[in-house]
Amino acid sequence: MPRIAYVDGQFVRHSEASIHVEDRGLQFGDAVYEVWAVRGGILFDSEGHLARLARSLAALQIKTPIGNASLMVIVRELMTRNKLKDGLVYLQISRGVARRDHPFPAHSRPSIILTARAMNMVQADARAAKGIQVQTCPDNRWGRVDIKTVNLLPNVLAKQAALEAGFADAWFVDSEGMVTEGTAQNAWIVDSKGQLRTRPATHAILRGITRDAIIKTAQELGFTFEEKAFSRYEALSAQEAFITSATSFVTPVIGLDGYKIGDGTPGSIARKLRETYLSQQTSVKKALDSTLLD
Ligand SMILES: Cc1ncc(COP(=O)(O)O)c(C=O)c1O
Repeated sequence: MPRIAYVDGQFVRHSEASIHVEDRGLQFGDAVYEVWAVRGGILFDSEGHLARLARSLAALQIKTPIGNASLMVIVRELMTRNKLKDGLVYLQISRGVARRDHPFPAHSRPSIILTARAMNMVQADARAAKGIQVQTCPDNRWGRVDIKTVNLLPNVLAKQAALEAGFADAWFVDSEGMVTEGTAQNAWIVDSKGQLRTRPATHAILRGITRDAIIKTAQELGFTFEEKAFSRYEALSAQEAFITSATSFVTPVIGLDGYKIGDGTPGSIARKLRETYLSQQTSVKKALDSTLLD
């Protein structure tokens, strides 16, 4: 079965999908994106991702090119055409095609791209059960990483450097020695006093949709939680650490820069949060129609 993508109104073979050479997303990174997890055929946190998409478009002054209802019809059709049970749906909206010039073009129609990718959930669950090792690196990104734009070069380089050094991923650390977030995930610890902590959602991090869902889950489970930045040193002396994102859900971090976190195995709070979040998302079985918000 061929993989199918969606480009500007058409479903096309993934291998033949293409965009214009003067698309501003390509030339300037003038584009935003979203990633939804799909597990057991269910699209996770659909409303949260739609709300963040609207915020990202507004921040870049890109006129919303499609209503949520129409977008969800396309997402559902894409999932069907790709027989997507477990994996990801990727959406990118750029300012559109125009002669290469920095100012916003007077007339351009935003370009919309959607792709679907299958993911092996058995492997993903096994990775989470084992935990991952992370390395820290200086946060050298621009000052508006809270907008979900496609400008991910520092993230790409940090991830590659981490892999080459034998780690699974990287955590960015700001000039004050405080952890900001991962290359594509939010960073969390259970500090030495047993308190769950993740960095407040300022301009210094992308406010993860999974992060927000996990804050709710943690509160429902009665864990003490504070939105408070933590240093690399605090992470090293934490009882537990983990990451959250649409692609990793909740995945324990068992080592940082080659040092064990806690006893060097996945922590019980991270495991409980992952298990509860997955069962909440899959049992709610939010029908896609409930996200037709227009
Ligand atoms: C830099 C960064 N932080 C955090 C996240 C987690 O966001 P979400 O939970 O919405 O996937 C992502 C996801 O791509 C990301 O790229």
